[in-house]
Amino acid sequence: MKQVQDYIRTIVDFPHEGIMFRDVTTLFADPRGFRMAIDQMLHPYAGIDIDKVVGLEARGFILGGAIAHQLSVGFVPIRKKGKLPGRTISQDYKLEYGEAIVELHDDAIKPGEKVLVVDDLLATGGTAEAGIKLIQRLGGEIVSCAFIIDLPELGGRKRLEAMGMEVNALCA
Ligand code: PRP
Ligand code: ADE
Repeated sequence: MKQVQDYIRTIVDFPHEGIMFRDVTTLFADPRGFRMAIDQMLHPYAGIDIDKVVGLEARGFILGGAIAHQLSVGFVPIRKKGKLPGRTISQDYKLEYGEAIVELHDDAIKPGEKVLVVDDLLATGGTAEAGIKLIQRLGGEIVSCAFIIDLPELGGRKRLEAMGMEVNALCA
């Protein structure tokens, strides 16, 4: 039977030379693949208390929306700078290929809320770390971080675990 990783393709030299880009659009486009990914991402959280799912732009929105729906909890987006309409808090970070700023509405998480962070891929961990810092600045408690892909050679898992985070990923 096809596994989640079998639905993901790698595009060489995108968006820059030397980057092996893991393209999950082929996974999302396949009804079996998408359902399998959501079901497997949810698996560790059966019976765990979660108040909100936070998705990291952009592919974390697709996964996080489906996961929040399944858990019957609210979904909160962390977006690239300048996209959220309300009052925000900001955090800058470095990427595998560049630098960016992410933002969160300052009323999106209440102190003490239990949060599941969701994205498609963990590389250097810069994006997730920035998202975690934003959530923590609002007093949110991070239950876990869920990804489809972990690229362990880029150090993201170690970086998040050093912050005390639980990291779950479906494949490398
Ligand atoms: C990708 C991916 C993660 C991030 C991981 O997003 O979806 O969010 O990179 O890299 P890191 O662990 O090194 O931070 P990207 O920055 O390409 O943004 P996009 O989803 O908005 O295209
Ligand atoms: N984000 C950072 N590195 C990536 C990669 N290799 N593939 C897809 N998204 C990424």
